[in-house]
Amino acid sequence: MNPQLLAGVRALAPRTDFPLLAGNPEMHYLDSAATTQKPRTVLDALRVYYQQNNANPHRGAYALSAAATDAYRDARDRVAWFLGVEDTDTLIFTRGTTEAINLLATAWGRPNVQSGDRIVVTRMEHHANFVPWQQLALATGAEFRIAELTPAGEVDLDQLRALVTPNTKVVAFAHVSNALGTINPVEEIAAIARRAGALSVCDGAQAAPHLTVGIDRLGVDAFAFSGHKMLGPMGIGGLVARREVLEAMPPYQMGGDMIAFVGDTATSWNVLPHKFEAGTPNVEGAVGLEAAVSYLQSLGMERVREHEQALVRYAMERLAEVDDLRMFGPGPEKRGGVVSFTFAGIHPHDLSQLLDADGVCVRAGHHCAQPLMRALGVPATTRASFYVYNDSSDVDALVDALQRARERFVVGTR
Ligand SMILES: Cc1ncc(COP(=O)(O)O)c(C=O)c1O
Repeated sequence: MNPQLLAGVRALAPRTDFPLLAGNPEMHYLDSAATTQKPRTVLDALRVYYQQNNANPHRGAYALSAAATDAYRDARDRVAWFLGVEDTDTLIFTRGTTEAINLLATAWGRPNVQSGDRIVVTRMEHHANFVPWQQLALATGAEFRIAELTPAGEVDLDQLRALVTPNTKVVAFAHVSNALGTINPVEEIAAIARRAGALSVCDGAQAAPHLTVGIDRLGVDAFAFSGHKMLGPMGIGGLVARREVLEAMPPYQMGGDMIAFVGDTATSWNVLPHKFEAGTPNVEGAVGLEAAVSYLQSLGMERVREHEQALVRYAMERLAEVDDLRMFGPGPEKRGGVVSFTFAGIHPHDLSQLLDADGVCVRAGHHCAQPLMRALGVPATTRASFYVYNDSSDVDALVDALQRARERFVVGTR
């Protein structure tokens, strides 16, 4: 047997740091691409914020309101630093990736895209980075084109180059695919967009939690991410975009905080980032996300990536031993912490219920990537996804549960 298989892979972060996992020692949580479990430091940060600093920020002159304002600003600074963004005010807090891309597709898209223009996405996009652009194309009369994938599950860069013509206004693509795990060559795709004068929009939902993204160095015009996939709370994430892009864009929502002056007949807008953050902000979420990135920083993002690669390699080797199992996507070097597969003719929904009976939590379905499922020729897949608290015993439990599922389902129904 391969020595690495024999040695196994240890968790990078102790389970005891994660109250939900510590309270469920038999659980094998393999659905971190959907959302991650939260470390105690994040839960504590939320409680401390409400116990010590809670007030509406930006709106009061009293000390407590100033404390909430400081907490919110400090969280932005820390998250921007973690993501490699120097111009902190170009990080707009949103509810997550979905809201970030909708913001851009609406506020940037409507004034900048028209009939005769082209929008290019890839076949592997999550609906959050597909539907807003498709709908923008339908609303404006622009042409919507999809760059296809190679048999290995990577973007066909030659085809993409050919599709990105001088009339292309947007090239929208995932940094890491949630359904295949493919890590895309972001700088190269951004360069293709730039040569055509198109806006490059990178969906970083599956990248920010797992890689040292260094957004400033990627060369993209916009990058979206979700806090809940990187140990933070739900309901917080962000859009990072070049300052010129954000300054030229009209606001997305109107209301409190985003204005400079409201006249009876006209209004002027606040500076970045407030122009795009109408209403009472999610201070709690920002503070929780700050604690999450501090936790990731303490682990070290290089080690997060190494751990994940080792675990994915281990998982792919062990799953290759299972009969009637078909995996999708590239090898471990070009893959994030995701393994999608079909198995023994069992529908993924049935399979995930059978695995759940053995304490193995995996996702089943189209993974919000129906255009990709059509290209793969399957209605759905089963997806195991890994994070810092997983180790090879989780993979072993998955493999054992698959064997038992076959006995119960395939043999049992003969
Ligand atoms: C690649 C990708 N993009 C976008 C999203 C949407 O993220 P959210 O639901 O946090 O807005 C997800 C969530 O699964 C994703 O994996």
